[in-house]
Amino acid sequence: PAPGIALPYTPSAPRTEPTPNATGTVRFPDGFLWGAATAAYQVEGAAHEDGREDSVWDVFAKVPGAVLGQDDGEVACDQYHRYPADVALMKDLGIKAYRFSTSWSRVVPGGREVNPAGVAYYDRLVDELLGADILPWLTLYHWDLPQAIEAESNGWVNRDTAYRFRDYAVTMHEAIGDRVDVWTTLNEPWCAAFLGYTGGQHAPGRQSREDGLAAAHHLMLGHGLAVQALRERAPGANLGITLNFEVEDPVNPDDPADVDAARRLDGGFTRIFADPILRGAYPADVLEDVREYGLEQHVQDGDLEIISTPIDSLGVNYYHGNAVSATPHEQPLDGSAPVTRPSSSPFPGGDGAYTHPRGLPLTDQNWEVQPEGLTRLLLRLQQDYTGPRGIALYVTENGSAYEDVVGPDGFVDDQDRLGFIDVHLRAIKDAIDEGADVRGYFGWSLLDNYEWAWGYGKRFGLVRVDYETQERTVKASGRWYGQVARANAVPD
Ligand code: NOJ
Repeated sequence: PAPGIALPYTPSAPRTEPTPNATGTVRFPDGFLWGAATAAYQVEGAAHEDGREDSVWDVFAKVPGAVLGQDDGEVACDQYHRYPADVALMKDLGIKAYRFSTSWSRVVPGGREVNPAGVAYYDRLVDELLGADILPWLTLYHWDLPQAIEAESNGWVNRDTAYRFRDYAVTMHEAIGDRVDVWTTLNEPWCAAFLGYTGGQHAPGRQSREDGLAAAHHLMLGHGLAVQALRERAPGANLGITLNFEVEDPVNPDDPADVDAARRLDGGFTRIFADPILRGAYPADVLEDVREYGLEQHVQDGDLEIISTPIDSLGVNYYHGNAVSATPHEQPLDGSAPVTRPSSSPFPGGDGAYTHPRGLPLTDQNWEVQPEGLTRLLLRLQQDYTGPRGIALYVTENGSAYEDVVGPDGFVDDQDRLGFIDVHLRAIKDAIDEGADVRGYFGWSLLDNYEWAWGYGKRFGLVRVDYETQERTVKASGRWYGQVARANAVPD
């Protein structure tokens, strides 16, 4: 660590074995919520219908080279027109909650005027869900900022966007707050800020460390302002935010340089958001790591009080962890061919951190399958963040992209995806048994959909989508997951 900075967490040695007890029936606590998740731009389509205008993603997707195959969300899964069938499908499967997002660009297309036709879509969707006895789990921001706000006022780099976000939250609440009890402000602000404004892999595709940090702060400010406004209107609502987490393990826990590299990645991924939101302060070591990029100039008096307005639930998105070192080792830890990966983090504090393959199984995106990381993550969150504040944990995303093989009858027997979910559910139960207050799980994703910069090539669905015909076919993983939801248990 830098001189004078105490390590803000205790690094644990990486455990590289997959969850060992992948057999035996595992029962979940009564009332555990079983859901499936999607996001507006990834599934809705109808990108220019009924008054919807460009979001930053509509514009970014047109930039040559930005998205594989130059795919866009113009049609996606056409859920805008097919939502009754999708809701019926969820009901048939036994899914109890649908985590979806509302599109700011549909509801307030130009950034200022409300579009009643856009609001009406969510009104219909929510009624359809309630009619099927499926809990609507609403996310207000899953990355589709109205392009007008980006173009006219610099998007999330501008403080004003936080206030506009609050107004949009209030608009949604006025329209459907009588029927929706669960409100998530933001999905994965790390991606919105640092992939969008620093790394440039996501819309709006900017590459500035200063802008990324400004965006991070203003996203959190928007979250806090929205929580305040919603709380005032609905004191009993379940309010929260969803963050993305990785578990960063030093390659050599005895090497201070590796430990420090893991600390920096953890700071830039987890603590830069979790600390302000749940503890009311930026971590000192993170501020130190990014000192030259001007984060503090955006932090005004009172901001951290707003940002840390109490919430009821923390959404956890978990896909994988990392083995992190300070040096680009030539030999991977598993003894296979030499690979060096720069840190996946465009976050400024992540400089000089390298991630290494450990010989764990990989998904189609080369993400390591590391379920025990989820157990440790949930226990850490419970202990350091949510437990002391009485905040419930929900795993709001977990899942995997695998190349699907479509059988002659159209069926996808995706045992790899099924196995991925199986071991992660067992890992969650391990965390619950050790004291984590985890109350639900949402599979990512209900449907194959638009995987952002990867386009339609990566399939995460429990249900296959044929993009030519829009036909839906439940995969083996989807059938199995429905049985888990009905039984409230993972079978042997
Ligand atoms: C996180 C995001 O919230 C979601 O939009 C994305 O498709 C999945 N992870 C998979 O990468």
